[in-house]
Amino acid sequence: MHKLAWRRYGPGSDGGGPPLVLLHAFPLDSRMWTDTIAALPQVPVLTIDAPGFGDSPDLGGGLEEYADAVAGTLGAVGVRRAVVAGLSMGGYTTLALAERQPGLLAGIGLLDTKARVDPPQARAARLQMAEAALGEQGAQVVAPMIDTLLGQTPPEEVRTEVSGWLTQAPPSGIAWAQRAMAAREDRLATLRQLDVPALVLRGAQDATASLADHEEMAAALGTDVVEVDGAGHLSAVEAPDQVATALADLHARAR
Ligand code: MLT
Repeated sequence: MHKLAWRRYGPGSDGGGPPLVLLHAFPLDSRMWTDTIAALPQVPVLTIDAPGFGDSPDLGGGLEEYADAVAGTLGAVGVRRAVVAGLSMGGYTTLALAERQPGLLAGIGLLDTKARVDPPQARAARLQMAEAALGEQGAQVVAPMIDTLLGQTPPEEVRTEVSGWLTQAPPSGIAWAQRAMAAREDRLATLRQLDVPALVLRGAQDATASLADHEEMAAALGTDVVEVDGAGHLSAVEAPDQVATALADLHARAR
């Protein structure tokens, strides 16, 4: 079983209940959670870097293998149950984990993501980007994402920070993740079978995952959508305090 890079924050899991596991967006790494975690001092948090991103090794396969590696990594550090929350690609992976390891989940958080698959054109664009990332363009292929990741008027320092992360995205990780996301399955039915505390949250200006995408997931989970004003797709980077409040509430309900 592959092991992914992980980091622990906050109180030990004995004192604080099951850990809150945070899975990051594409093409970033766990640094995107820094400000959210700073606003969650009472919650035991564990971050995991996706295969080929941050400090994690490359991994073959798709999001299913990523989800299995998350379960394997948690098992290796003694975690049998966790509240798992993922943003965008992290959300797709959380859905795969819910399908493959439902007993692991004490709660689920789906942020700026969707349970449905991409239309054919979007899938083709992902495969094109994967090719381009492995060619001369390298990480430059993700530079234009700065205009779709953030809301309409992000603070300049947030834009600068996220642009910096985009330039550091590893080309092999970009290619792996785009192919994995292109091949992902529809997992709305998986959500209907889950019976754990849930959070479905989106930045109100998210240009990538729509309100309808979130309403569908929320209905399947028997909850409502939490919308964060003034934030786009990277809600946890743009509005870390509001996202931390919603995650702390999810964690409290799951304890
Ligand atoms: C992400 O933020 O992880 C990406 O926007 C996911 C995607 O490309 O669908």
